[in-house]
Parts: sequence; structure tokens; C-alpha cells
Amino acid sequence: MENKEEKKKIVLSGIRSTGNLHLGNYFGALSKFVKMQDDYDCRYFVADLHALTTHPDPKMIHENVKQILAEYLAAGLDPEKNTIFVQSDVPEISEMYLLLNMHVGIGELMRTASFKDKARKALGITSDGDEIEKEIIGNNTNQRVNAGLLTYPTLMAVDILIQKADLVPVGKDQEQHLELTRRFARRFNSFYKTDYFTEPTNFNFGGEAVKVPGLDGSGKMGKSEGNCIYLIDDEKTLRKKVMRAVTDEGPKEPNQPVSQPVENLFTLMALVSGPEVVKHYRDAYADCSIRYGDMKKQLAEDILKITLPIRERILEIRGDDEYLSKVVARGAERAREYASATLRDVKEIMGIRKV
Ligand code: TYM
Repeated sequence: MENKEEKKKIVLSGIRSTGNLHLGNYFGALSKFVKMQDDYDCRYFVADLHALTTHPDPKMIHENVKQILAEYLAAGLDPEKNTIFVQSDVPEISEMYLLLNMHVGIGELMRTASFKDKARKALGITSDGDEIEKEIIGNNTNQRVNAGLLTYPTLMAVDILIQKADLVPVGKDQEQHLELTRRFARRFNSFYKTDYFTEPTNFNFGGEAVKVPGLDGSGKMGKSEGNCIYLIDDEKTLRKKVMRAVTDEGPKEPNQPVSQPVENLFTLMALVSGPEVVKHYRDAYADCSIRYGDMKKQLAEDILKITLPIRERILEIRGDDEYLSKVVARGAERAREYASATLRDVKEIMGIRKV
């Protein structure tokens, strides 16, 4: 008889080790990781190889890996229920990355939105024209766009495919990468006339993928945008950030359309506050009685209810290097077991065999 464990869908997701986790990471990814842990075969990792694409300080990479691990555990991931590991502890990923790259087109990688964004940053281009390919090839300054940045989606596809994941809980900004993963899986299957890989999908409990906005009126909360609320923020810092969030002059007539910065506050509120609280402020906006100061106070209060207990646990766990090492040693062992089986099959399918 089939074991119940074997029937569970496989979940795989990761976060780059580039600094502390913010509310975007939490609502786009980590909170879902926690909610899924009882019902699926979950494998969560820290993407330290992906972090290398933007050349962080080598000393910081290691610290950041431990920080993210502590934040995973503090948010409620149970190492008994999940496979928790560090990407670089699974060398099979790097080997399969080389193999999969043989079936990935440079053109499709160059057209990826995140590549264009990062390439523009690397070359110091501020306009958002579509001429990035020409800028890269024609560029003869000392700035360069590294090949790791270009092949970032291959590495991410391998993370997912090597674990044979069915579900990949990620935020909206990662959906294009997931679409590429599906395309690479289909291409591999059709090239080798096999049905080896299944196509993974995003997972958001039946809802739309989440995009957490920034506090500066911009569309997305992100580390490089400097508009984040971090899980590790203390109470005073967090309140200050929320109180300073960009708004507008306030509605002048009933039922006026809501401006982007204020809509962002409503979006954040919908994530952390109860529906009656959101309704109260929506109604107040509609009849022009809203006071943004009150709304921000309420928002800060409701964010703190979620983040403060996590912050306390992060501080406890972060100091316990021995515990963290134990968690990832066990995780790596399991992750490698799955990964090496896939790599073996993939090499066999591609014709790489021992003489
Ligand atoms: P990263 O490290 O940029 O972000 C980690 C997770 O946080 C989500 N996220 C957001 N969600 C909603 N709103 C936001 N403002 C926001 N900012 C970040 C991201 O969507 C992501 O889910 N390439 C990935 C890491 C990765 C990965 C993988 C993920 C590598 N291999 C395999 C899944 C499966 C990344 O850079 O995420």
C-alpha cells in the first residue's frame, strides 16, 4: 500500500540571503510557507547562490544565511515538518544548472524583466527603454553585467525541478521566473521525448499572487527600494516608518478615486487588519472624514501584532549557531537525497553516462 507521506504534493520555495526579511517577503512567501507545512511535503531553502549575482560582501553572505534561517524558524517553520536547507549545501543544484543551461536561450533570458532591471542598475542606466541588449553588447566601460545574472532563471528553475516540486509559493514578482521554469520543463520533456518533469505552479490558497506595496508610494516593497518594514524592526522604528508613509492631501469630495500612495496603505491594511477595520477607513475615505494619522496609527498597531512576536523569536534563535547548523545539516541531507536522484535521471536522459 502507498504510504500517506508519498501522496503529499511537493512544495519548494526559497528566499535570497541579501538581508533581513520584510513584509513583502513575509506576505508574498514566508507566511504561506508556514501555513502549508502541515499539509504538504515542504522544502524551503536559503538561496545563497542567487545572492551572489549582485556581489554582496562575502562576510555578509554567511551572516545573512544565518539571519534568514533564524527568521524562517522564528516565523514558525518547524524543522521536524519541513526540509530546511541552504542552496549551496546541495552541489547537485550547481551541476544540474550547467546541464539545463544547454536548453535555455540567451534571448529569452535577456527578455526577462528582472534581468533587464538588474542589468540597467549594473550599467547605471536610469531610463527604462527596451534597448538593454544593445547597451550590454555595446558597453565598453568598466561596468559589466555578469552571466550569473543572465542565467538566474535557469538556477531558479533547477531549484524547483531538481526537487520535482508541484507548488512554489512566491510573490507576484517571481511569476515570470516560474513561467520560465514551466517552459524549460516542457522543452526538456519534448526534446528528450519524456514526461519526466511536471510543471510547477504558484500557490496562494486559491487567491491571486501577492504584491506588497512600499511605504514611499511606490508599487513594490523591496530591499533595494529602501521602502521596507522588516520583521526585525523594533517598535519605535516601525511606528516611525509607518507614520512617515507617503499619503496625499486627503479626499476633497465624496467617493473620490484613491491615489496610489493611499491605496498602498489600504493594501497593507487588508493584509494585517480585520475586514471591519479596513471597511471603517474605506467608509471614512468615501465620506471625506478620514484622518491619515489615525489610519497609520491603526496600521502600525496591527503590523506590530504580527511582527513583534516574530522579532522576539528571531533574537532568541539568531544567537544559537549550533541549533541552526543542526537544522540545515539535516535539511541538506534530505534535500541532497531528492536532488541526487533527479540529477542521476537527468544525466541518464541526456546521455551522460559512465564509460
Ligand atoms: P526574493 O529573495 O527576492 O524574495 C523572496 C520571496 O519574497 C517575495 N517578495 C514579495 N512578495 C510580495 N510583495 C513584495 N513586495 C515582495 N518582495 C519579495 C518574492 O516573490 C519571493 O517569493 N528568485 C527568488 C528566490 C528563489 C526561489 C527559487 C524562489 C531562488 N530559487 C526557487 C522559489 C523557488 C527571489 O529572488 O526571491
